Amino acid sequence: MANIRTVGVVGAGLMGSGIAQVVAQAGYSVVVREVEQRFLDKGLKAIDGQLRRAVEKGRMSAEEKAKLLGRIKWTLNLEDLKGADLIIEAIIEDLPLKQELYRALDRLCPPATIFVSNTSSLTVMAMASVTDRADRFAGLHFFNPVPVMKLVEVVRTIRTSEETYRTVFEFAKSLGKEPVTAKDNSGFIVNRLLLPYLLDAIRALEAGVGTVEDIDKAMMLGCNHPMGPFTLLDFVGLDTSYFIANIMFEEYREQRYAPPRFSERWSWPAITGGSPAGGFTITPARRRRSRTWGCDACGHARQANMLPSSEIAEARLTCPEMNRS
Ligand code: CAA
Repeated sequence: MANIRTVGVVGAGLMGSGIAQVVAQAGYSVVVREVEQRFLDKGLKAIDGQLRRAVEKGRMSAEEKAKLLGRIKWTLNLEDLKGADLIIEAIIEDLPLKQELYRALDRLCPPATIFVSNTSSLTVMAMASVTDRADRFAGLHFFNPVPVMKLVEVVRTIRTSEETYRTVFEFAKSLGKEPVTAKDNSGFIVNRLLLPYLLDAIRALEAGVGTVEDIDKAMMLGCNHPMGPFTLLDFVGLDTSYFIANIMFEEYREQRYAPPRFSERWSWPAITGGSPAGGFTITPARRRRSRTWGCDACGHARQANMLPSSEIAEARLTCPEMNRS
């Protein structure tokens, strides 16, 4: 098995920063690469906040926190990943963008470096095929929030070598995670089952089966889920869920992966970078943020924090303008 000491993480978003944290926590040296300084700053802030809470709760000393942060190097330069034994890519679910990155990394890194993708819906082989190291290429799919969720899906393509697979599997275990092996099919195990469930919740809302609150409550209290489907959709991100659903629909051409009629509108602000991103639920944090949605067409001009989320949901289903504000 290959010896892993230094791990490169590409992308410092929600998943990338969480991955960098758990990898550094397990004692590895980490190099995190982003395309803009503000994304690096955001990633560092997220990790620092998590660790500060751990120190406050007495789970970690201030010295341990400083040491852990000292193991992470932040960079805008792809070349800084040259010394990594393993590179974990956690950028946006955009195949051409990922392929471009892998082509560059393949030219840059020594042959022994193993590449893994944290993709949640693309096939790993679609990325491995643009490199000359398909045998040293696998998938490692983490779950949000990465420091909390125990599962990692280890994805083995038809070309992943036995040695790479075993190295990556043991690496996942060394992070304190519980790995499962999944075939290189779009969505692997979890999203294959989770996405149709989340999309069905939207369909149930559209069909008037229940309100956002009642559907969430039903699944939490009836099935002991920690979050209802709408809270989970907002937690994963409507834009991310929408991207995943479309990729899986393209792959399988099965109705159960087709984003429901309204979901494109719901995720529209997030996809286009509009602010704030749409959402089904109002968490206490969101409730504190006062937002005014104005719509000349239907007269929806309200303080978002004065509306129950079910009313916002109703209004959003009927009023595209609300999604834009
Ligand atoms: N990052 C790090 N730690 C976090 C966290 C975050 N974002 N959110 C919560 N935690 C920690 C808290 O610090 C707390 O730890 P301690 O008890 O040790 O202090 C612990 O998690 C529990 O948190 P809370 O008491 O605040 O809240 P909770 O009990 O409701 O748990 C939750 C929060 C863990 C997120 C829980 O609601 C949950 O498991 N939700 C479901 C999450 C899920 O399904 N994730 C998978 C999404 S699918 C995906 O990621 C893959 C994909 O491709 C789409």
